[in-house]
Amino acid sequence: MSTRVRSYCKINLGLAVGPPRADGFHALTTMYQTIALHDVLTVNARPAATTKITLTANHPGVPSTEAKNAEKNTAWKMVAGALERMGIAAEVEIDIEKRLPVQGGLGAGSANAVAALIGLERELGQALPGPERLQLAAEVGSDVPLFLIGGAILGVNRGEQVFPLPDSPAMPCVVAIPKVGVSTAQAFRDLDARSANAADSLTYPQPADRLEELSRALAAVWTTNGVEAGALRGTTGIAGRSGDLAENPLLALVRTGIENDFEEVAFSQHPSLRSTKRDLMGEASDAAVYAALSGSGSALFGLYKSLEDARAAQQRVQNAGTQALLTETLPREAYWASMFAE
Ligand code: C5P
Repeated sequence: MSTRVRSYCKINLGLAVGPPRADGFHALTTMYQTIALHDVLTVNARPAATTKITLTANHPGVPSTEAKNAEKNTAWKMVAGALERMGIAAEVEIDIEKRLPVQGGLGAGSANAVAALIGLERELGQALPGPERLQLAAEVGSDVPLFLIGGAILGVNRGEQVFPLPDSPAMPCVVAIPKVGVSTAQAFRDLDARSANAADSLTYPQPADRLEELSRALAAVWTTNGVEAGALRGTTGIAGRSGDLAENPLLALVRTGIENDFEEVAFSQHPSLRSTKRDLMGEASDAAVYAALSGSGSALFGLYKSLEDARAAQQRVQNAGTQALLTETLPREAYWASMFAE
């Protein structure tokens, strides 16, 4: 028997990056949202005298046993770490059917790590305790732990400290997949260089301020939704608006003007990404509710009020020669309910 797992990816709704830390990482604040696009992992595992992990993939950019660099694969690291923590030796075969771009900013590689763990646990009939899973995930990569939660998630510290946020209903989403790939480590270095150049300017927002700004926007949205909205609903004026916010935190969040700090580096290095964002955004009546770069890029996404608006945006992006996929945001319950593929 084998276990097939849907490895869903994420987008970032706002991403504020702080100054570099002593350990080389950057403090950040972001909201992750899982979406319905996914790779598929097939995991086969059985206890054995010694551990042997074999990894195959349908994409040359994915580290594999054949390419002799399987140990670099996040799925490999996760499975090796889990077996060690469980105190079990096993023969494990992992096949990764890549449908999502490598280096796209969608966290696809990080999601593969969690899908491999979930497949392994099901195959062995044994699960790591929750805190250990989160710790192992954080060791494998900064945006791995979010996939142990799914739905809408607050990410802080270097992105690995995650907190589930109240979910919004599924919303149509278009993901544009430009041909360029972006190295996350390089994107952080480029952002540092820009901040250093702008450090003299009094008007340029400093990284630490950006972190606080986004934290405040996130806190305000969920405070309004959880506490004030109920009290305000039913009164006049602001009431209609806050009632609306209470129903969809995601819409409330994008109204705060959240931004992704990586856009300034990505757009100056690849100007075509800016025009793809414009195509995702559209104009007037069928405009996106929100459009932005995801993570450090190069994927961009748009969120829409209706499927028709999303389809129109997909067409605009494709007409300009960039691949565009139609999908939807994936709330936590749906994320877990549809994780196992037949
Ligand atoms: O944690 P992960 O392996 O995904 O990070 C890849 C690289 O991105 C790190 O080696 C680091 O250079 C950079 N990074 C960072 N700050 C973060 C997350 C990642 O500088 N919060």
